[in-house]
Amino acid sequence: MEFMPEPYRTKAVERITLLPREQRIERLRQARFNVFKIPAADIFIDLLTDSGTGAMSDNQWAGLMIGDESYAYCRNYITFEDTVRDITGFNHIIPVHQGRVAENLLFTCTVKKGDYVPSNNHFDTTRANVEHQGAMAVDLVVDEGLDPKLDAPFKGNIDLNKVENLIKKVGRDKIPVGMLTVTNNAGGGQPVSLANIKAYSELLHKYGIPFYLDACRYAENCYFIKKREPGQQNRSVKEIAREMFSYADGCTMSAKKDGLANIGGFIATNNDELAIRLKNMLILIEGFITYGGLAGRDLEAIARGLVEALDEDYLAYRTEQVRMFGQMLLDEGIPIVQPPGGHAIFVDVNGLLPKFPRDQYPGWGVTVALYREGGVRAVEIGGVMLGQHPDGSEHFPEMELVRLAVPRRVYSMAHLAYVVSILKKIRDDKSLVKPLKITWQAPALRHFTADFAEI
Ligand SMILES: Cc1ncc(COP(=O)(O)O)c(C=O)c1O
Repeated sequence: MEFMPEPYRTKAVERITLLPREQRIERLRQARFNVFKIPAADIFIDLLTDSGTGAMSDNQWAGLMIGDESYAYCRNYITFEDTVRDITGFNHIIPVHQGRVAENLLFTCTVKKGDYVPSNNHFDTTRANVEHQGAMAVDLVVDEGLDPKLDAPFKGNIDLNKVENLIKKVGRDKIPVGMLTVTNNAGGGQPVSLANIKAYSELLHKYGIPFYLDACRYAENCYFIKKREPGQQNRSVKEIAREMFSYADGCTMSAKKDGLANIGGFIATNNDELAIRLKNMLILIEGFITYGGLAGRDLEAIARGLVEALDEDYLAYRTEQVRMFGQMLLDEGIPIVQPPGGHAIFVDVNGLLPKFPRDQYPGWGVTVALYREGGVRAVEIGGVMLGQHPDGSEHFPEMELVRLAVPRRVYSMAHLAYVVSILKKIRDDKSLVKPLKITWQAPALRHFTADFAEI
């Protein structure tokens, strides 16, 4: 077989509506040109995120019916804990209601003002949680990860020389933890090799620095390892995952990605002393240590989703769908980060609109144009999302990207072909993308709520 189609069939459907263009223009005006603020019912194809937007299986829906809503040690927690431990091998498994709470707990308990936290690329919530402690989130992805045109297998790798230079420059005591995002969402959804994970772990441990994985898309990352890394072809994705986690001291996880659930996450660690502090803080902000802000039924759905996400037919279809989406765009001459990552296609806006001034937010303008022209919602990962710094200054990241995230088990290739047709329209008439200015912004994570006006 050339490729793996959906290893499932449709049992229930959900109506989606394409509003007429005039109404879409009105919705944009009402939302002050921020697509986060458009009601979801008014979106036709929603590629804002792959997080929590996947379709659950019949098996997961069935699991909801055996939700045990007891306050402490419900049976679903036991299943959840067993499943996570079986996959990761970590000792302490602490549920949270989503990934950023795991980050908040980890950094509250480990990081202080003036510290540095290296990673390949910090995702926006990870960065914000590090900075919230007064520490610096440092991105040290390999140089090839910064070249959107370069086709290389592991562009999410962290540059070990850059890491060692940072340790020597600021001192080991200023680095309480090293992170690594698999796959590297903010760097184009690119995977990290097993060899790089192992070497990074050894380097951090040489200096006594704990190593935590941001494991949201660990299954997709491990599938790429199986497909691309020499010597890994005959191993199961689960075996690879187990080895990957064995190099880390713990992980943060949003189960809204490779947990195939609509809500949930966890933080896991092997550090007994840290686990006590994490659990005390969890009780303060989320709930008892066996539910962490989730219902028992959610824990069941996550446990079942984690197992389904390791199904290699599913992973073959999933990565192939994203790859084919990327190929359709490339065939139309629309520049994207290459090769396609695991969960999304990232349009290279600097390549698409080379003359557009960065301080007029070209990536954001593309998200506005995608909605206006086709009812499609995407997210900018560029000057607006990553350009705001805690001291109030604005520095633009090298890459200006628009992420077209593909929800898991939701859209067909026909839906994605429609999205390609809207981007073709924008490619042919670049005046559809209008310059923007920010008229209001929050002090951090401004993209979620900022107001804009077209200039
Ligand atoms: C790499 C990465 N880390 C952390 C998070 C945060 O997870 P959550 O949205 O569940 O808080 C996300 C969410 O998209 C992510 O992609």
